Amino acid sequence: MQQPWRMQLHLAEREEKTIFLKLANQIIQEILSGRLRQGTRLLGSRTLANELGINRKTVQSVYEDLEAQGWLVSKPRQGTFVSEHLPDLKLDSSSVTMISVQSPTESHTPQEAIKNDGVPDTRLIPYELFSRAYRHALIKVTRQQVMGYGDPQGSLELRQALLNMLSMERFIQTTLEHICVVRGSQMGIFLAARVLAKQQPKRQFIVVEQWSYPPAVETFLSNHFQIIQVRLDQHGLNTDHLAELLENHAVAAVYTTPHHQYPTTVSMSMDRRLKLLELSKSFDFYIIEDDYDHEFHYDSRPIPPLISLPSADNVIHIGSLSKIFAPSLRVGYVVADLDIIQAMRQDILLIDKQGNAITELAIAELMQQGELRRHTRKMRKIYQGRRDFAVKTFQRIFKDNVEIATPAGGMALWVKFKLSYRLEFAEVLKQLHIDSEYEFGSLFQGKSNYFHIRFGFAAVSEEEITQIVQMLYQALLDR
Ligand SMILES: Cc1ncc(COP(=O)(O)O)c(C=O)c1O
Repeated sequence: MQQPWRMQLHLAEREEKTIFLKLANQIIQEILSGRLRQGTRLLGSRTLANELGINRKTVQSVYEDLEAQGWLVSKPRQGTFVSEHLPDLKLDSSSVTMISVQSPTESHTPQEAIKNDGVPDTRLIPYELFSRAYRHALIKVTRQQVMGYGDPQGSLELRQALLNMLSMERFIQTTLEHICVVRGSQMGIFLAARVLAKQQPKRQFIVVEQWSYPPAVETFLSNHFQIIQVRLDQHGLNTDHLAELLENHAVAAVYTTPHHQYPTTVSMSMDRRLKLLELSKSFDFYIIEDDYDHEFHYDSRPIPPLISLPSADNVIHIGSLSKIFAPSLRVGYVVADLDIIQAMRQDILLIDKQGNAITELAIAELMQQGELRRHTRKMRKIYQGRRDFAVKTFQRIFKDNVEIATPAGGMALWVKFKLSYRLEFAEVLKQLHIDSEYEFGSLFQGKSNYFHIRFGFAAVSEEEITQIVQMLYQALLDR
């Protein structure tokens, strides 16, 4: 562990208005410049406050705020540290082939400031249909007196409905035995990590894209894997770089979101997909394919997932009904080879025995009666309109200060602000999150002259989009 950092700060010389902002920005700068390294322990709040001659509460609030933003972590009885999970700065700065909107020499620090990074508009859920389907499910289980324990892999009805959907919508030809119902794709990711950790104890690495979905990364770390980042560009995961990494690391799996990459929204090209599958065979690792928002693809036919392609034996495919219906349903699914599914089944028996049979029956009915398809069609139209409106609104209000590549699908934009990042901006994001019904973005900060947000457009109406973009404008430019 690195020793507490003796902070050489000159707060009075900084231009920010409050001591809080001066200190917070100074710490961020120290991290970005590399002087304050990952894992370094910071001085205790009392000591730092004494050294700087400021109030201890201010130091505590700064530490809390930077912790909430992902820069710092506090460990009980140990102190406050620079987060270990900032991306590898060395790797980032050599990523010359990063997506085109990036400056090749910049390093980047993903941080989750706000949670809405592409959630559905729960105001538009077909509540009537849901209550009818739940009513039917309740009547069915009551009549048939089938409220005892069920199959840990999920009810047959739901697996059958998923099987049909996967075949029609995702070109996946599989069987009921290869499908396991889970409580949201998050559980699928966790089970995949746990099963791989047990099956392949000698392989300690999981590869994720240079920017990736933070809850997945956390899940891998919590299962004692080490993370390696592979470069990303406008065609998705860089398979040449992956091939280099595979030469020197015992990789258990590659986690990827190929349809609409999280957070950058790019779709992985077909040649990269085929190359990735080829590598998974020759280096014998699994691909954890997170197909989290496949329903929403606007400009062309949805792209076939990795698991539907030839030679996809090593793919663990994970999907979710969170985006099309609602995250609170907690229904997701895994499609994989029988060894993996059987191991997941054993773990489910230890975790919660099975899912909620009534929810599973209700959803199966909605799927089998075509309601899911109808609802998807309707939402796709609405979200496509919001996507287009959001892109235009950012461009209209920010003019040349933003760059956005309109995503072919998904529920979020990747917005590059060609402006200096200011802590006040994060404050506004936070404010919006707290004060409004809707949440809307995740912040990905660049080193100096630009930064990104992943702006979830699906959950907000056109009026709300305008309001939010104007607030962002005021926070950044209208001074
Ligand atoms: C990349 C990614 N994977 C998975 C999920 C869905 O998680 P769950 O099905 O657990 O709600 C999300 C939701 O935001 C996501 O962004």
